[in-house]
Amino acid sequence: MATELQRAAPRLHYICSECGAEAPKWQGRCPACAAWNSLSEDVVRLTARRPGPPTVAATTTPMEAVMAAPARVQATGSFEVDRVLGGGIVPGSVVLLGGDPGIGKSTIALQVSHSCGDEVSPALYCTGEESLEQLALRARRLGCTGARVRLLVESDVDTVIATIEAERPSLVVVDSVQTLRDAATPGPPGSVSQVRAAVLRMSEIAKATGVPVLLVGHVTKEGAIAGPRTLEHLVDVVLYLEGERLGEHRMLRGIKNRFGATGEVGLLTMERDGMRDLAAPSRGMLDAASLGASGSVLTITCDGLRPMAVEVQALAVASPFEFPRRTASGFELNRLHLMLAVLAKRAGIAVSKLDVFVNVAGGIRLADPGTDLAVVLAIAGSAGDRAISRHCAVIGELGLGGEVRRVSRTEVRLAEAAAVGMEAVILPESFRGAVPDGLRVHRVRNLIEAVALLG
Ligand SMILES: Nc1ncnc2c1ncn2[C@@H]1O[C@H](COP(=O)(O)OP(=O)(O)OP(=O)(O)O)[C@@H](O)[C@H]1O
Ligand SMILES: [Mg+2]
Repeated sequence: MATELQRAAPRLHYICSECGAEAPKWQGRCPACAAWNSLSEDVVRLTARRPGPPTVAATTTPMEAVMAAPARVQATGSFEVDRVLGGGIVPGSVVLLGGDPGIGKSTIALQVSHSCGDEVSPALYCTGEESLEQLALRARRLGCTGARVRLLVESDVDTVIATIEAERPSLVVVDSVQTLRDAATPGPPGSVSQVRAAVLRMSEIAKATGVPVLLVGHVTKEGAIAGPRTLEHLVDVVLYLEGERLGEHRMLRGIKNRFGATGEVGLLTMERDGMRDLAAPSRGMLDAASLGASGSVLTITCDGLRPMAVEVQALAVASPFEFPRRTASGFELNRLHLMLAVLAKRAGIAVSKLDVFVNVAGGIRLADPGTDLAVVLAIAGSAGDRAISRHCAVIGELGLGGEVRRVSRTEVRLAEAAAVGMEAVILPESFRGAVPDGLRVHRVRNLIEAVALLG
């Protein structure tokens, strides 16, 4: 029989970065979720049952006792960020902010901490990857100077926690969670077990003190926040900052939110002096000069809950190569290949000898199938030098048979089309809902009918 000491000894086991399942030995494939190559080393310490009196039952709390005061949320200084958070930052909550390198995570984190802190109760900005000088440069550029934020260059999680307990800041930013190191957990900083342990520790201190924590997380090549997917279960809110790095627009997407609607999208612009709310979202993205030209089509995408007018541009030109090039910026390349196949087969437009380039203006990524028809009409328009009126928006999903399908939230999209000054809209024939006054409607059943509307 194992002694108490043996039972308390660390034991090596493996943990899946996709689903968090544990396995006693390494395997190429996770036995729980069947993901390949996702198991990595972790160490658990089996705690021996403590000697002493038998465990006493806990005291439970009646629901009425906690009903009195609703949690007071802290505004972040940005309407768009607040919107995604569900009103603001909830005390004691843990928010994970992920995004590609250089997208603006530290910028947003510093601006939020500057808004949440004040002279009496400053925010704490804790970094493990930049020096005080680098932080000062950014703070000066963003105008986030003064006594509202205190800085700490530290990666030891115990020191960070002790500092939070001593200073009781109004908000803590940890930039980034991959740099935190928990001395009690084996493995290098950034490893699955280290990141998980650090997030758990930060979550405990947030709940114990009521100090909200904003964790910045790097994103892997596959697009997930580096570290186990289970990290997302350990925090209250998961936000992703997206956009083309060289473009100025950014989308802050709520992936998970325990305090508000999931799927909310905040629209921001990255300027020299920091992240700003995009004032009138759709209008800010429309380049009036190109609309109305062949290859340029306006569509209304509905990303999450929010409609947004976006310009899709396509260029289809004779290719000098045996294998024509197809590139897409802001649109999935595989979907572009599919759209080209449908265009060739169902509308008889020869694209096999054309280089095709698709670009979504403003650095927006279109993931919404309701924008398919606009992309296809932009390509068909460019290939045939035919244009759609600059006052006409296009909404519709495209099926493999060339049929134009109804899309979700069409009414909301139509209202947005009217709001940005559109006079007409091309939409699926099957849509039966109300159309705003003053908006002419061209109903189309299939791609051939839609292409016929090109001027
Ligand atoms: N002087 C400047 N003027 C304008 N924009 C700048 C300037 N310096 C930096 N930027 C912008 O800020 C971006 C970097 O922002 P930030 O450091 O917040 O990104 P990050 O997501 O934290 O990056 P990382 O993943 O490297 O930590 C740059 O990509 C650039 O667009
Ligand atoms: Mg950064």
